[in-house]
Amino acid sequence: MKKALITGITGQDGSYLTEFLLKKGYEVWGIIRRSSSFHTGRIDHLYQDPHNQPKLHLVYGDLTDGTNLASLMSEIAPDEIYNLGAQSHVRVSFDIPIYTVNTDALGTLRLLEAIRSGKRKVKFYQASSSEMFGKVVETPQNETTPFYPRSPYACAKVYSFWQTINYREAYGLFACNGILFNHESPRRGETFVTRKITRAATRIKLGLQDKLYLGNLDAKRDWGFAADFVEAMWLMLQQDKPDDFVIATGQTHSVKEFLDEVFGYLGLDWKKYVEIDKRYFRPAEVDILQGNADKAAKILGWKPKVTFKEIAKLMTDADMDIAENEKIIKEKGNKK
Ligand code: NAP
Ligand code: GDD
Repeated sequence: MKKALITGITGQDGSYLTEFLLKKGYEVWGIIRRSSSFHTGRIDHLYQDPHNQPKLHLVYGDLTDGTNLASLMSEIAPDEIYNLGAQSHVRVSFDIPIYTVNTDALGTLRLLEAIRSGKRKVKFYQASSSEMFGKVVETPQNETTPFYPRSPYACAKVYSFWQTINYREAYGLFACNGILFNHESPRRGETFVTRKITRAATRIKLGLQDKLYLGNLDAKRDWGFAADFVEAMWLMLQQDKPDDFVIATGQTHSVKEFLDEVFGYLGLDWKKYVEIDKRYFRPAEVDILQGNADKAAKILGWKPKVTFKEIAKLMTDADMDIAENEKIIKEKGNKK
């Protein structure tokens, strides 16, 4: 049985990747951080399933603690490592740049060093990002497009991208970068724009909220579906040679278009509810991202399955369930 170690297992991608690898018959180990409140909500359904119990293990650790990473590496002896852990919010990275770089850049280096000192044969996946293209020099972006990072987060990801290649070339590590464009799902963090919109729109529809405050509505992103994208991570590590791949849908849409889809699906006009709040603008913005995933299609045989419209609809449906429950609880509370 193959063993996979995942950093960031409690995040959106970590949860889908865990589901995917357990189905493939892997033993999965996930590194979680100590928190004063529960934060395993996205993987509880997997952890509590008796069928998975001998195959899913959670251990404490942190990308800022290299000593712990090295001992976990020798204790677990994984065949594959997926480095998904990160301070992943671009806007927040302007507020906490040092912490972001410590986790997203030096954290990767700590993990790579733990692998190197362990002297075991391991395959390594690095969660690189389309944010590295930043102020894009060409559209669409592919594996040869130069980077122009526009945030502390993106600069940290560029550092990790090159360290991953450096460990491949210097030490012969089977190490791959997946340059993933934005990918969303009902498990997306609630402060990212798509989820913020689906949460608010469904709550507005049920009378639980009046307004939605957003920043730049003209930004364009290449939005795919998270469950589709984690398959590409795994495929990269199953090849004969390590390499780097863009993973994207090839379509780009503005925040306004996402608002049209979601509010339109609920029979609402978003212009009546959305207000602009300058706090949500970034000091430097990435105006447009659109990927070209031809290399992944050709070598990995990977293609996205879920469309932009379908993502908007399935996220709205999932958040409507949450909003309906909220409404029931609120009504019960009012009767007491
Ligand atoms: P996410 O939902 O924000 O999850 C981030 C994960 O990293 C969480 O499990 C978090 O743990 C963990 N983490 C944060 N700081 C850590 C630290 N110091 N040590 C160990 N773990 C830490 O992110 P995601 O959307 O799943 O994205 C997964 C990865 O892909 C990230 O590296 C992200 O930058 C990258 N990426 C994402 C996208 C996208 O569109 N989603 C696109 C390209 C690249 P807690 O639960 O304890 O906070
Ligand atoms: N979060 C947020 N909140 N974004 C807003 C808002 C708002 O209220 N209003 C407008 N936006 C715009 C942002 O300015 C940005 O241009 C766009 O919506 C998308 O923002 P996010 O959903 O926060 O995602 P991101 O593109 O900055 O970053 C995500 O994708 C990257 C891949 O390109 C994250 O998942 C990163 O971790 C990931 O690397």
